[in-house]
Amino acid sequence: MNDRQALLDAIAADIRDHVPCGFEICERATRLVPGEGAAEARVVLVGEAPGAGEDRSGRPFVGPAGKLLDQLLEAAGLRREDVFITNVVKARPPGNRDPRADEVAHHLPWLEAQLDVVRPRVIVPLGRHALARFAPELKISEAHGRAVEQDGRTLFPMYHPAAALHAQRLRETLFDDARALGEML
Ligand code: URA
Repeated sequence: MNDRQALLDAIAADIRDHVPCGFEICERATRLVPGEGAAEARVVLVGEAPGAGEDRSGRPFVGPAGKLLDQLLEAAGLRREDVFITNVVKARPPGNRDPRADEVAHHLPWLEAQLDVVRPRVIVPLGRHALARFAPELKISEAHGRAVEQDGRTLFPMYHPAAALHAQRLRETLFDDARALGEML
């Protein structure tokens, strides 16, 4: 195992073992979901927070949105094992509500630590909540599907796959954007 993989594993262990911390979002979760993928990934995809399936399995994007994400990766010429997939918040918010600002702040150091280790060429924030962590002034409806330089990082914002599950036009936009990501890489 290389050093970067060992560092990522140590961050994952820290996330999995970190309760009790006094935060409801962490203490009510079945499992915290650190994220997974290649330590040398050129692309890191960042969702918002785990849902029910992720909370049960401890793995990111395993539900219907995850299936669509796999198809989008394929359209971009990527496989799951080529990328690193994680979330801003590593625990499922009770009832799938939006994470609160203090919860995001509680979890953000883990995402930053993961990004410091992987040092990807491109970060793909999925949806407006993830985009808000990286570029609060950008709107997903305007920024999706193209590269944006922000704080020394290259972002390639995309809509959240869950938003496209029942919206055919958004689905087409997501596939266009995934192909554009593939061309950029
Ligand atoms: N939605 C997310 O934002 N993240 C997941 O891991 C699953 C669904």
